[in-house]
Amino acid sequence: MKDEPITLPLGEPPTKGQMIARFGRDLVTDFDLDDPGFNDKFDETLDFLVRKCPVVHSQVGRGYYLINTQDDVRRSAQDWQTFSSAKGYMPNRPEGMPYLMPEESDPPIHTEWRKVLNPHLSPKVSLSYEQPIRDDVNELIDRFINSGECEFIGEFGALLPGWAFFKNVLGLPIVDLAMLIEGVEEGTFSPDLGTRARHFGNVFAYLEKHLRWRSEQSERDDLIGTILKGVTYDNGEPAPWEHMVSILVDLTFGGIATTTFVMASAIHHLATHPDQRQLLIDNPAMIDNAIEEYARFFPPLVALGRTCTRNVEIAGTEIRAGEFVMLTYAAASRDPRHMEDPGKIDLTRTGIPHSTFGVGWHRCIGSNLARIELSTTIEEWLKRIPEFSVKPGTEPVYVTGYLRSMRKLELVW
Ligand code: HEM
Repeated sequence: MKDEPITLPLGEPPTKGQMIARFGRDLVTDFDLDDPGFNDKFDETLDFLVRKCPVVHSQVGRGYYLINTQDDVRRSAQDWQTFSSAKGYMPNRPEGMPYLMPEESDPPIHTEWRKVLNPHLSPKVSLSYEQPIRDDVNELIDRFINSGECEFIGEFGALLPGWAFFKNVLGLPIVDLAMLIEGVEEGTFSPDLGTRARHFGNVFAYLEKHLRWRSEQSERDDLIGTILKGVTYDNGEPAPWEHMVSILVDLTFGGIATTTFVMASAIHHLATHPDQRQLLIDNPAMIDNAIEEYARFFPPLVALGRTCTRNVEIAGTEIRAGEFVMLTYAAASRDPRHMEDPGKIDLTRTGIPHSTFGVGWHRCIGSNLARIELSTTIEEWLKRIPEFSVKPGTEPVYVTGYLRSMRKLELVW
């Protein structure tokens, strides 16, 4: 992470040779989300993409494009007829992996599901979980506060979103959370596609078992009850069982694989910027705004995919029907055409036009819940541990693909 704002001018990309010298590869024709170089030079690469390369191509596997400017990302996310989600959101999707609803569907199927699911995660309903989540934050802090140190990811950041979603929203036991977190992480980042598929399979099997059990109990009108009640598709057929399971899997992926990164990055920023910490301690009312800036700058979902249904041209690049295209939400949130100094973290920035929660039809259903997890964490942490820093001799460990995640953050106080 940088403190210095990036001032790279807008314009044409440099030559292939210059890109290879700077990034180790030609970003325009040979991009790779899984390249360790992208993980290491994350901020620099995103800034470069949004300023210099509106569209780039990857040759990995079956190949994919990345769309990088805010205007193009917004336009494409709205146009589901051209950029369909029905063939999946991840590049080089493992063969045989079931599609996830509502994420990997288009209207009208998508609309039917969102209509019944949205009320369970509305701003008002999410707010009803605020106190239990605040209690969870404090219970986790209680476990390590007296030891004067913690490994933030393992002891807090990876746990809280799971507790918030499983315990409070789904009413599911949290004893199996570690297996689910591992399943989602390995299913996303394992270098071997077969291993990814196996881990995703474990998550599916676990959640299907729970859904089956619930279907044998008396009806309830909670989120799982709504999934089990199902929807009717426009051909008059009820949604099949596999779609119901995949709804629960999609919500679980969203519920546990994302918020940790924003949370950990915010805590890391506050650990390394005592003045910003003091700013929030003195002005707790600023925390909600700070969360938007942290979400903008630390996007867990780097890019999500669509399949082109017709030939299109974006920023001068022709993309043919059938090609896989990714919307780089992370780059779009740093577009200098829409904000000043996008490379700088400014907690006082207002009207933050970020796309971290997605834009258009598939905009995140869990953003209200995520915001509560983030605000309660920062509020309670700063009250109870106002002075803290990164453990000397350590630094955060990151891993990046289409998702970005922090694996380790050691703190002392
Ligand atoms: C900071 C935390 C989070 C971030 C950054 C985030 C980000 C996103 C993004 C970018 C999308 C759009 C996907 C696309 O365009 O294809 C999305 C969709 C989704 N998110 Fe989140 N998410 C977060 C938290 C959550 C939580 C807590 C849940 C569940 C409780 C959740 C569940 C979902 C689901 C189910 C979708 C699919 C929506 C659809 O396809 O209509 N997310 N999220």
